[in-house]
Amino acid sequence: MTAAWLVLVAILSANAVYAASVGENQSTMYDTIVVGMGASGTSAASTLAQAGRRVLVLEAQNRIGGRVCTVPFGDGVVELGAEWIHGQVPSTVYDLAIKNNVSVISQDISMDVFLSDGSKGDRALINDLVDFALQSCEDPPKEPQPLGQCITNRLMDYIRVHHPDLLKDQDFLTELLAFLDLVIDNYEATTSWNDITTESKYRELDGDQHISWHKNGYKTLFEILLNTYNNGPGLPTLEYKLNKEVTQINWSEDPSKKVVVTCKDGSSYTADNVIVTVSIGVLKERHATMFSPMLPHWKTKSIDTISMGLMDKILLLFPYSWWPKSSTFFAFVWRRSEKKKIEERDRWVTQIFGVSTPLGSDRAMTVWTSGDAAKTVSGYSPRNEN
Ligand SMILES: Cc1cc2nc3c(=O)[nH]c(=O)nc-3n(C[C@H](O)[C@H](O)[C@H](O)COP(=O)(O)OP(=O)(O)OC[C@H]3O[C@@H](n4cnc5c(N)ncnc54)[C@H](O)[C@@H]3O)c2cc1C
Ligand SMILES: *[C@@H]1O[C@H](CO)[C@@H](O)[C@H](O)[C@H]1NC(C)=O
Ligand SMILES: *[C@@H]1O[C@H](CO)[C@@H](O)[C@H](O)[C@H]1NC(C)=O
Ligand SMILES: *[C@@H]1O[C@H](CO)[C@@H](O)[C@H](O)[C@H]1NC(C)=O
Repeated sequence: MTAAWLVLVAILSANAVYAASVGENQSTMYDTIVVGMGASGTSAASTLAQAGRRVLVLEAQNRIGGRVCTVPFGDGVVELGAEWIHGQVPSTVYDLAIKNNVSVISQDISMDVFLSDGSKGDRALINDLVDFALQSCEDPPKEPQPLGQCITNRLMDYIRVHHPDLLKDQDFLTELLAFLDLVIDNYEATTSWNDITTESKYRELDGDQHISWHKNGYKTLFEILLNTYNNGPGLPTLEYKLNKEVTQINWSEDPSKKVVVTCKDGSSYTADNVIVTVSIGVLKERHATMFSPMLPHWKTKSIDTISMGLMDKILLLFPYSWWPKSSTFFAFVWRRSEKKKIEERDRWVTQIFGVSTPLGSDRAMTVWTSGDAAKTVSGYSPRNEN
């Protein structure tokens, strides 16, 4: 006991001496402070540290990853946040996995289809229409429109030519459109596909759109970035601190002046630069109090006008995997009468477009919800760190 205590004291006093000797010139401590240790903050810090810059990362939560969160589940892992690498060319994330010999697997997301009466739906038809709906987003009309309206118009033209039989069953067509709406909502984190516009600067990367880290977990990306993958030694000029919620950033438009970053626990850190990577949700809530001076108007206007979407996953673990192995995605299309019955009681249940089975855990199933339904679901489930 005594020996351990002495060691601790020695380390503390060595630190004190070090701090005093650099106290006059804090820039010898950190070139840059990065706020937030999700994918953005970790990439920024990694890039700077690999260029020899001294970086400090301050993260509010007790873990690295932000909206990437790989957790053990069943016989493997599941992703509470991001699950796939979307596109390969050019993709830094994909390239890092390949360069480090981490196996990643392409997941076929074509869906098996079930109707709400339990019968099997027309797999070829549904996948054809889902592909058409997703693709028609990529070629926006000249005049911006609500996305759902645009897809519906184009889809109806397509159906008239390629699937005219569908026009005879108006109820089915209505539910088909409701289903496609939900699929798009899960991509966009919205309640309705008409909540978004067709106008977009988003550019889809070429190549495979659903590449899974499976049992390796998306967390591997962070180990690669921090050079701790395969027992790597880390990055000598990168330091990070968890449980450090930043409350105040005092910056100056004069680039020769230092930045002072203060945390909720009263500690503060000084550097030449600061990179802030907190989510748009955090910025919306606190940009007015977080920055001194306040951010310029062109930034706060963007923060105020961009909205934060919501997307939830419900992860279920079963004693064994009872579902067909023909697919890893299963779509649900309602029948009108059945939907009405459930809608009155549990509307959110009718807002689930389907389920998927994650490649990282054999007995797990993911139920997808977004927008208002996701809000309802978050209210039901015990809160976790996400
Ligand atoms: C359920 C879900 C599924 C997704 N699926 C995919 C997918 O399959 N593929 C894909 O590419 N993307 C997916 N995404 C999106 C992807 O997860 C995010 O785009 C990405 O992780 C965002 O990274 P970021 O670093 O910008 O933000 P974040 O990950 O949010 O990182 C910000 C960090 O800042 C920290 N922070 C916040 N406030 C403070 C403060 N005051 N002080 C200090 N730290 C603070 C947060 O704790 C967090 O760690 C998904 C997202 C969700 C939620
Ligand atoms: C602090 O260190 C920087 C970089 O080493 C140097 O340019 C600057 O002159 C120093 N400032 C003071 C006050 O010593
Ligand atoms: C990846 O594997 C190749 C071939 O086996 C090897 O040459 C290379 O050094 C490996 N790279 C890493 C980062 O382990
Ligand atoms: C940062 O700015 C705020 C508001 O102007 C001020 O109250 C606070 O004392 C400053 N903190 C530091 C560390 O300079």
